[in-house]
Amino acid sequence: SGVPLAKEEVGKRTEEMRLLFESGTSLGPTYLQGRKARSSAEAWIRQMVKEVRSNRLLPNEHTALYEFSWHRDESGELLPEDVVAVEVLNILRPTVAISVYVLFTVLALHQFPDVKEQVERGEVSKTEFVQEVRRFYPFFPVAAARVKTDFEWDGYVFPEGTLTLLDLYGTNHDSSIWTEPDRFDPSRFKDWNESPFNFIPQGGGDVDFGHRCAGEHVTIAILGQVIELFTKEYAYTVPPQDLSYSFVDMPSLPKSKLRLTHLTRNQ
Ligand code: HEM
Repeated sequence: SGVPLAKEEVGKRTEEMRLLFESGTSLGPTYLQGRKARSSAEAWIRQMVKEVRSNRLLPNEHTALYEFSWHRDESGELLPEDVVAVEVLNILRPTVAISVYVLFTVLALHQFPDVKEQVERGEVSKTEFVQEVRRFYPFFPVAAARVKTDFEWDGYVFPEGTLTLLDLYGTNHDSSIWTEPDRFDPSRFKDWNESPFNFIPQGGGDVDFGHRCAGEHVTIAILGQVIELFTKEYAYTVPPQDLSYSFVDMPSLPKSKLRLTHLTRNQ
């Protein structure tokens, strides 16, 4: 992203990013904490945009901070600082949100040791494993939208203004699409038909014209690296803990999160 982060700031900024993606779905104190985190994070990035534009901060080209700070609109004007800040956060926030999938990827390696061995033997590819993690575990259960103009689909009438929820988790567990949907089985992705409508953990349809996440490939690539690290590079122990998770929280996380001990790097 081109955003520098001092070691002392890691805790504070991580917490802010977490609140940004968790609090959007909460009410009460968490919602308020989220608003505070948003204004603090925006002020932090706005200050950086000022420094970039006065050449006091020189991020690499092709990073979000560089590109958005120097982007000119159709009339040749630089974007307002607050717009740049929001756009940079639109990259940082979902990237940090991948941590939820990181947790579930490591959890799946722990809960399904036979499948882990298949990955290690190369019988299941990293991408197949990642796809199954994104299908199997809950993250954000629904995508919400409001109907712009009246339409009818498959016998259902959608009047303008209706709040509509697309069931992401339900679609990924629909037994008319997936055989034994409650079984963790990455090999199902060997012959998946790649329809943009049946597998929708990060939204559905087309990236350009529909509601599919623009960061899906980045997410898959990062999680592939996570599998590499946790199958080859690290040895660790998963101590007894409460790994059950709720189906009503957003995002849903195991009660104990995921605690690892005896983490060492393999030689
Ligand atoms: C943590 C995993 C992620 C989840 C669960 C997720 C989920 C989603 C969903 C459901 C949408 C569609 C919203 C809609 O149109 O109704 C979306 C859009 C988007 N996502 Fe993600 N996302 C994730 C990671 C990322 C990452 C890593 C990036 C980029 C670094 C990213 C960038 C975007 C962008 C730019 C859009 C808007 C696309 C547009 O409106 O054209 N996402 N995401």
